[in-house]
Amino acid sequence: MWNKKTFPHRRFLTYWHLLILLLMMMIIIMMCPGYVKGFEEKEFHIVFLGDHDKEDYSAAQKTHIHLLSSVKGSYADAKECIVHSYTKSFNAFAAKISSDEAIKLSRMEQVLSVIPNRYHKLHTTRSWDFIGLPLTARRNLQRESNIVVGVFDTGITPSSDSFKDVGFGPPPAKWKGACAHSANFSGCNKKLIGARYFKLDGIRDPADILSPIDVDGHGTHTSSTLAGNLVSNANLYGLAKGTARGAVPSARVAMYKVCWVTSGCSDMDILAAYEAAIADGVDVISISIGGVSSEYTTDSIAVGAFHALKKGIITFASAGNDGPSLGSLANHAPWLVTVAASGTDRAFRSNVIFGNGLNVSGIGVSTFNPKQHLYPLVSGADIALNEESKEYARFCIENSLDPKKVNGKLVLCKLGSSGVDSVVKRIGGTGAILESEQFLDVAQIFMAPATIVNTTAADTINNYIHSSRSASAVIYKSHEIQIRAPFVASFSSRGPNPGTKRLLKPDIAAPGVNILASYTLLKSLTGLAGDTQFSKFTLMSGTSMSCPHVAGVAAYIKSFHPNWSPAAIRSAIITTAKPMSRRVNIEAEFAYGAGQVNPRKAVNPGLVYDTNELGYIQFLCHEGYGGSLDKLVGSKSINCSSIVPGLGYDAINYPTFQVSLLNKKQTTVAEFRRTVTNVGPAISMYNATIRAPKGIEIKVEPTSLSFTRKLQRRSFKLVVKAKPTSSIEMVSASLGWKSLRHTVRSPIVIYSPSE
Ligand SMILES: *[C@@H]1O[C@H](CO)[C@@H](O)[C@H](O)[C@H]1NC(C)=O
Ligand SMILES: *[C@@H]1O[C@H](CO)[C@@H](O)[C@H](O)[C@H]1NC(C)=O
Ligand SMILES: *[C@@H]1O[C@H](CO)[C@@H](O)[C@H](O)[C@H]1NC(C)=O
Ligand SMILES: *[C@@H]1O[C@H](CO)[C@@H](O)[C@H](O)[C@H]1NC(C)=O
Ligand SMILES: *[C@@H]1O[C@H](CO)[C@@H](O)[C@H](O)[C@H]1NC(C)=O
Repeated sequence: MWNKKTFPHRRFLTYWHLLILLLMMMIIIMMCPGYVKGFEEKEFHIVFLGDHDKEDYSAAQKTHIHLLSSVKGSYADAKECIVHSYTKSFNAFAAKISSDEAIKLSRMEQVLSVIPNRYHKLHTTRSWDFIGLPLTARRNLQRESNIVVGVFDTGITPSSDSFKDVGFGPPPAKWKGACAHSANFSGCNKKLIGARYFKLDGIRDPADILSPIDVDGHGTHTSSTLAGNLVSNANLYGLAKGTARGAVPSARVAMYKVCWVTSGCSDMDILAAYEAAIADGVDVISISIGGVSSEYTTDSIAVGAFHALKKGIITFASAGNDGPSLGSLANHAPWLVTVAASGTDRAFRSNVIFGNGLNVSGIGVSTFNPKQHLYPLVSGADIALNEESKEYARFCIENSLDPKKVNGKLVLCKLGSSGVDSVVKRIGGTGAILESEQFLDVAQIFMAPATIVNTTAADTINNYIHSSRSASAVIYKSHEIQIRAPFVASFSSRGPNPGTKRLLKPDIAAPGVNILASYTLLKSLTGLAGDTQFSKFTLMSGTSMSCPHVAGVAAYIKSFHPNWSPAAIRSAIITTAKPMSRRVNIEAEFAYGAGQVNPRKAVNPGLVYDTNELGYIQFLCHEGYGGSLDKLVGSKSINCSSIVPGLGYDAINYPTFQVSLLNKKQTTVAEFRRTVTNVGPAISMYNATIRAPKGIEIKVEPTSLSFTRKLQRRSFKLVVKAKPTSSIEMVSASLGWKSLRHTVRSPIVIYSPSE
């Protein structure tokens, strides 16, 4: 999952899960005809073909089977191994084939590419007020109710108050989507107008239900953040109380379930969801799922988003939870909007009082009121089960502690894996005090009284334990505190863009820490063994949570400007962002992109940097993607040599600027040509304001742009000269186009690539 509910931020499969999965995969492989002919392992692949006659689905399907039978030998074998034909937005099929067969297919004239199917990970409501979209914000309710947001996730909870349809009219006329009728799913309504699931590998997931229902909670949470109804008195055991709501409470929701509890989210299913969503008529797609490739042409999230873009649909994707290391970013294709996670001014603390009067403020959410004044306190390191388990006991890992010495006590543990509180609780302990140096900006939810303290505090506690004969402590129920904000979350993936040195990613930051939104009652708060906490709302953290915030802002913009292109909407979001502090966030733009999303300003940006499909193709040609472009675009018609030549920096009309220094000896000169479109008052005049640090010279020409009508376009040239200095790693500058009413701000980033 791409949230930070569990700690550390990635959930690992257990050996049992893996074993079961392996067994099932073996059974499936053996069932696929052709297996007996050779011992070569067969895997799911996606085979992309050229353009086709989009009207005739069954003919296209037959073509797929025919094509595959030319390598399989027989029509029947081929039919058996195809699990899905994509015939709507792109022409492709998914099938279980050997790598030999994949190679044979890829050499065929009609075949554009063959990619293996991989599995991705998933990456209140105070947050809307915090970023400036209060309940009272100006709205266009009529148009808002015609907007359909598509969410690719773990499914949805139809019974949630966030998705009730009181006051909603029939779905917008353009809507062609459907609702899967299946077990445990009550069906759609006028708010939740679409819900489907995709599970093409056919492997049963015993922990999940073959239905759009959400047994995980992640999809319910992201969907309600994006477009959930107003729900008053939302809270988590009394914490974070308030009115929960999405960015566009009047918009309609369509869930495409592509993520499954055990297996994750597969390429085949993600592509099938894109195909459905595009044909159904969604306006905005939100994907809080991890990319697995930096090659745009082989990553299903990027490929699908390109096809969505061709139909005018904008896709938002989470930047990933692999921060704070540099270059850890995912989902950085130029046509995706890549969203980083920031913290709001609310945090959760638990007071821990010790027998000697020491009073420490711990981090995290513990919903339990103590029943005793004080509990005996021990250190995990001192109560190992035996000599061999000593090393694990400080981390309180399963089977490492002596249950007799834990009974009724609080245990001090180092935080190594998630679920330490559950381990202590199961062997009779009362709770745990956990020591961690990382991710102290996120509130983890515990299933027993527990809290996280830093190393300094842990050392003090340890000294107390060893200097007292009967150390004791008590952990109080968590409370909210106000903290300084915004800041980029420690876990949020950082740039520079691993895909290209010429494009700044992430694009934007939005709240993704301790977000309260709807949850499922099918899962306890932690999902850990023995957890008895259930709640209709919960707190989650992750770029999974920030992504739907910005997707929601796009839907909000679209309710005012239904005809704006995906690039215009993205530009509006980027150029109106509230700049964030370089001092607070040392990785600066690599952490927050243009800054914190600013919903109300984004509706009225003044100027936009627009682009279209051709702009991206041009960019990719300059990036050297020439040979593999047809895979992405879905046709063999692209010839990079015939695309207008230009400098690499010119190739795309992006609202941000990134310069990578050539080397440490030579001055780098980067020239950008950009075009802005007037979407503000017809007659307006913009003057350029450049901010640049020492050693960087930036010129813009012309220095003012005047417009006499709406949608008028004006071009300018920006030249960045960076002198070689050994010290600079990454510096921030900016260009602002200022009129009386608007500031159209673009960050300019200059950095030296590490290699
Ligand atoms: C799903 O439906 C099946 C069959 O009706 C039922 O046995 C099962 O308990 C249901 N599961 C959940 C989680 O509701
Ligand atoms: C511990 O400190 C917090 C604030 O730092 C305070 O509110 C609380 O009353 C203190 N508790 C005790 C028992 O001193
Ligand atoms: C560690 O935690 C204590 C208690 O909450 C706090 O006072 C202190 O500032 C923290 N130290 C660091 C280095 O974060
Ligand atoms: C691509 O375009 C160039 C220039 O227009 C032309 O010379 C070349 O033959 C074309 N290549 C293909 C494969 O069509
Ligand atoms: C832009 O610059 C011109 C000339 O220097 C000046 O007259 C005008 O007031 C400026 N406009 C704005 C909005 O700053």
